[in-house]
Amino acid sequence: TTPLRIGIAGLGTVGASLARLLQTKTDSITRRAGRPIELVAVSARAKTKNRGFDASGLAWYDDPSALAREAEIDGFVELIGGSEGAALECVRAALERGVPVVTANKALLAHHGVELARLAAENGTELLYEAAVAGGIPIIKTMREGLSGNEVSRVYGILNGTCNYMLTRMEREGLSFDLCLKDAQDLGYAEADPTFDIGGFDAAHKLGILTSLAFGTEIDADSIYVEGIEAVTAEDIAAAGELGYSIKLLAVAQRTDTGIEQRVHPALIPAAAAMAQVSGVTNAVAVDTDLLGSIMLAGPGAGGDATASAVLSDIMDIATGVVLPTLGIPADKLQPYVRARMRAH
Ligand code: HSE
Repeated sequence: TTPLRIGIAGLGTVGASLARLLQTKTDSITRRAGRPIELVAVSARAKTKNRGFDASGLAWYDDPSALAREAEIDGFVELIGGSEGAALECVRAALERGVPVVTANKALLAHHGVELARLAAENGTELLYEAAVAGGIPIIKTMREGLSGNEVSRVYGILNGTCNYMLTRMEREGLSFDLCLKDAQDLGYAEADPTFDIGGFDAAHKLGILTSLAFGTEIDADSIYVEGIEAVTAEDIAAAGELGYSIKLLAVAQRTDTGIEQRVHPALIPAAAAMAQVSGVTNAVAVDTDLLGSIMLAGPGAGGDATASAVLSDIMDIATGVVLPTLGIPADKLQPYVRARMRAH
């Protein structure tokens, strides 16, 4: 059987985990995908750093866009991060070539998701992003596939692992904001610029993606009300606790009489509620629907292997040829592309 050849751009926490998994879990991946998945090319700034995988047989590119344009690959994985610059350029380059793209980059999707999804469709390929929302939790596939027959009225949850880790430690141990932030950074949970985490922007990027899937609308991250946790103190949390509440950074999107409301802000959650029990780096997403009622998924929201698990699930979809509806493009408009792609298989 023909192997699926993969190139990874960006070897940070998630990229290094993914590379390791692709090299160590080869038998089980081959069995599950029905064909081998081979890492053939990588791009990262520091070439010599030891990242726990064997880089010797791999094509190495300094420029991620060159990898996207030139490498002999069947799938391109973007784990650089950031909504502009290198990440945007290399994703565009891969899609223009008709190579499927897997990304964990929520900022990129929040700002350019619709353009990139269209570019993918026009070139008969796909843009997959399971790892972009809630780390390892398979919420994208749940929304795209499992809930596709439902009308969603509300989606909400805890979408930033760094903030939840910090709030949990401030609550349980009475520690200061700054100390908890530093630990979250040391554990590899925080974004390169942690303002994205504590300012609520990372959760807003993820919420924008969920809103698009829940309501079939184009991503509109600019209209999200965003308030972060910078002003929350250990004393606030203790006072909330005395009243029977936990403070969580909550992201909410819901249908209202006037349209779709999207907001991210610290919220008081009754201590007995399931959402209040979500602790540490765990994320949780609850979805209210007409047929299924309410469901909640919870699990690791950041970290190398957990997030790589979600990236790997997208790579498996490429290997097996699964075709999924995409961001901000109504299914009827997508049908011609899907049919063309199925014929090509
Ligand atoms: N910085 C993010 C978080 C990583 O803490 O949730 C996962 O997207």
